[in-house]
Amino acid sequence: MKLPASPDRRVFLAGIALATALLAGCKPSGDGSGGAGPIKVGEFASITGSEAAFGNSSHNGTALAIEEINKAGGVLGRPIELITEDNQSKQGESVTIVKKFISRDQVSAVLGEVASGRSLEAAPVCQEAKIPMVSPSSTNPKVTETGDYVFRVCFIDPFQGGLLADFAKRTLKARKVAILSDVSAPYSVGLAEFFEKAFRAGGGEVVIEQRYASKDKDFRAQLTAIKAVSPDAIFVPGYYTEAGLVVTQARQLGITVPIFGGDGWEAPELIQIAGSALENTYYSTHYSPEAADPKVQAFVKAYQAKYGGQTPDAMAALGYDSALVLADAIQRAGSTEPAKVRDALAATKDFPCVTGKTTLDAQRNATKSAVIITVKDGKFKYVETINP
Ligand code: PHE
Repeated sequence: MKLPASPDRRVFLAGIALATALLAGCKPSGDGSGGAGPIKVGEFASITGSEAAFGNSSHNGTALAIEEINKAGGVLGRPIELITEDNQSKQGESVTIVKKFISRDQVSAVLGEVASGRSLEAAPVCQEAKIPMVSPSSTNPKVTETGDYVFRVCFIDPFQGGLLADFAKRTLKARKVAILSDVSAPYSVGLAEFFEKAFRAGGGEVVIEQRYASKDKDFRAQLTAIKAVSPDAIFVPGYYTEAGLVVTQARQLGITVPIFGGDGWEAPELIQIAGSALENTYYSTHYSPEAADPKVQAFVKAYQAKYGGQTPDAMAALGYDSALVLADAIQRAGSTEPAKVRDALAATKDFPCVTGKTTLDAQRNATKSAVIITVKDGKFKYVETINP
């Protein structure tokens, strides 16, 4: 599904009209992206469905970045045209969309996704076609292991699992932890594994491991089994829809110990789903809008102005950063040719992002700080920053 025309699209079209007028007379560059026309970038996102909160936040951040870039004159003197398509949070859709971006739209690069599982679906298509793909926020290591055309602008789960293990031991004073993970999400399976390894290495014990599949609604059997072994804390490396229900049902069953998760918890919907049950829960994520950094504050202000006062979350920040990193690479490449853009992406060094300075390493990953968030009185609250 194509997104309906929005006010940004009108601004963007005005931008193209201007750029086309300015560039009239220039020779097309013959790079397959329309010469003097807009530089096409495809974005696949979960705009609807169970992870709609992810797709919308990430898309809003990306769209804001592209709008700012185009207002400032575009890249290589051309505007960027962001083509966004919704995969409905469904398995299989991302492959179809990305294939269309490549053959029908002849995009210079692809942005997406938030959920690692869907980035893992699209990555082989981009790799095979040699079109650079930049995931804003997929943290499973396998995403970029797909090949040399696949990048991400966020940290990876061996880091996130390690810092959560340390947090559980140090701050929650937990020695015995239960894990409840989502077998249908590669993100969840991976994060559970990295956490467990690190927690054991630090002297902790994983006393029970229970599983569910995404879209499950009843977690009482797993939680009853967990309650029976009296862990000091419960780790739920899943996405917000299920995590919210897990927390609610755990509290209903009289489980009062801390429950914690990773970045998959981050969505305002978590609070709508679980409300006051979220007291004594924690999760790690990529950024906090409360950070004093002027770059963060300028971003928060611009985002709020564009999106009716909404505060940007981590997906929005990373969506924004992914577009800026890509635009910078195209500019440095001096070309929209995918191979040149790839090489320029690989050379990204100390690029100033909202989520911290971004350097893409030899594995095409970024190394960045994480933050821990808790929920107090129905609001997300920053706890601490953890540096790599
Ligand atoms: N890191 C998650 C994944 O790989 C996605 C995510 C990123 C969710 C940022 C929330 C915030 O699937």
